[in-house]
Amino acid sequence: MDFGMRNRLSKIFNPRTGKTVMLAVDHGYFQGPTTGLKDMGNIIPLIPHADCLFATRGILRNCIDPKIDTSVCLRVSGGPSILGELSKEDITTSMEEALRLNASGIGMSIFVGAKNEDRTISNLGRLVSEAERYGMPVLAITAVGKDMGRDARYIGLACRMAAEIGAHIVKTYYSEGFEEIVASCPVPIVIAGGKKLPEMDALQMTENAVKAGAKGVDMGRNIFQSDSPIGMIKAVRSIVHKGLTAAEAFDIYQKSKKSGVSENINAAMEKV
Ligand code: 5RP
Repeated sequence: MDFGMRNRLSKIFNPRTGKTVMLAVDHGYFQGPTTGLKDMGNIIPLIPHADCLFATRGILRNCIDPKIDTSVCLRVSGGPSILGELSKEDITTSMEEALRLNASGIGMSIFVGAKNEDRTISNLGRLVSEAERYGMPVLAITAVGKDMGRDARYIGLACRMAAEIGAHIVKTYYSEGFEEIVASCPVPIVIAGGKKLPEMDALQMTENAVKAGAKGVDMGRNIFQSDSPIGMIKAVRSIVHKGLTAAEAFDIYQKSKKSGVSENINAAMEKV
């Protein structure tokens, strides 16, 4: 692996812990103005708490201050809306654009078990081949086909396929048997949070995933749809980087929720 690739990966995975808290705010690329992301100003105070921001080029260009310290992983796939056949996704953003935006990684979805799974897998293969010419890590997101369960067998299949095709990082959903999924995937796995859960449940899922070998999270709704987004990202961060339990992290969330807006002011000071 060359310097550029390793340097970019070190902007995603915190070198102090080898893990990452990625903040996913790309949902609008197929869901439109999702709850919590209607006004992207809401996510600005969260950014200093993340190791890496996962977003589209439209959001980066229009809503994010280029002076942020947090690295960026660029969503480069899209096409169908939530109303259409999601597996028809294609690559929508070029490598040149990723380099121009100073991305530390690029991400696309694969739809194993869905109608056009083969197309998304060959897109991944082409993207990896191109990205490797520039030392750019590729994050493959294992979106779940409508008819597929989120069980270890299916998720294990999708993660392993992504790694075999060449993804450098895999993002997937937590499921029972996650140790097995991690053990059979030769590249780092991060978990998406999925639909909004009660805060304690989301933190327990994070603890379980990290204990099972996940290298962190690329989490969106369970952070930005929380009643205390800053409390949640700090809590998630404490599990990922400091090994706190979900119960300990929940305490951080509650304290932050109580202290309210003063949290924003200190946000930039509190990275691990
Ligand atoms: C959408 C995505 C999101 O980035 C991903 O689902 C993470 O967000 P959440 O934690 O809300 O699931 O890839 O396709």
